[in-house]
Amino acid sequence: MARDNKRGRLLDGKLVAKALKESIKKEVAEMVDRGEEGPHLAAVIVGNDPASETYVASKEKAARGVGMVSSVYRYPEDTTEKELMDVIDFLNRDPEVTGFIVQLPLPKHINEDKIIERIKPSKDVDGFNPVNVGKMAIGQPGFVSATPAGIMEILRYYKIDTEGKNCVVLGRSNIVGSPMSILMSKKSNPGNATVTLCHSKTENLDEITRQADILITAIGSPQFVKADMVKEGAVVIDVGIHRIEDKSSKKGYKLVGDVDFDAVKEKASYITPVPGGVGPMTIASLLNNTLKAYKSEYYG
Ligand code: GUN
Repeated sequence: MARDNKRGRLLDGKLVAKALKESIKKEVAEMVDRGEEGPHLAAVIVGNDPASETYVASKEKAARGVGMVSSVYRYPEDTTEKELMDVIDFLNRDPEVTGFIVQLPLPKHINEDKIIERIKPSKDVDGFNPVNVGKMAIGQPGFVSATPAGIMEILRYYKIDTEGKNCVVLGRSNIVGSPMSILMSKKSNPGNATVTLCHSKTENLDEITRQADILITAIGSPQFVKADMVKEGAVVIDVGIHRIEDKSSKKGYKLVGDVDFDAVKEKASYITPVPGGVGPMTIASLLNNTLKAYKSEYYG
């Protein structure tokens, strides 16, 4: 395990994301210099969920920041499933659009699975389509969803030794927990770990998390992981992001993760902060997927 004597060295996602975005920006600039259009990332948003608006605005800004074309397709809350399918078909066919995402969650009357399945795998830069999920599961090249891809990039950047280690993943979502557990179990670097996936029905959770050399938390519960659940010297990756009340802050709230950061950092060898850990990597990985889509790295 790459460790030093200091406790709680930060895994600085902002720094890793900056490095990745700079390399993407350079490549896009070279494409544009050659007279090419360069990659175009589109986002579809249905309804007016404020969190989704914020995420999509960040993705748009980041895409433009690396010189990509970015467009956002906005539709009202009462858009029908059929209308949304038609939008997807249009984007699937549009040769100007390199890749696109449909921001989740969608309004309740729309079946998310059906929508995700409709996205052409070669344009599915979120890596949510079952074809891309399946490719990842069997170790074939394809789009890996952005948060797990970003976490792998952080582990690679900091040369965290994962081979043969106990990796415990908390949460089994399709977007993070499940793909993360698969990636960490693969014969790869990072990877090659012995993986345990825990969820809401897991018994003796604390005993399991205390075995973790690498603990990845994606459970959506603020500051759930306490210091007594963490092994001395563990590497802790916190995917959660939550607003909790903080009267001492001007905004009246602060952002925290799934981990009780201040206490856990005293035990961990490495830890991601919230904000500034996994979050920035998610967007950088989405841009990286879009660049790969443009270069047709996976789908000819
Ligand atoms: N909602 C929350 N995270 C994501 C994401 O990574 N992609 C999309 N499309 N929707 C999300």
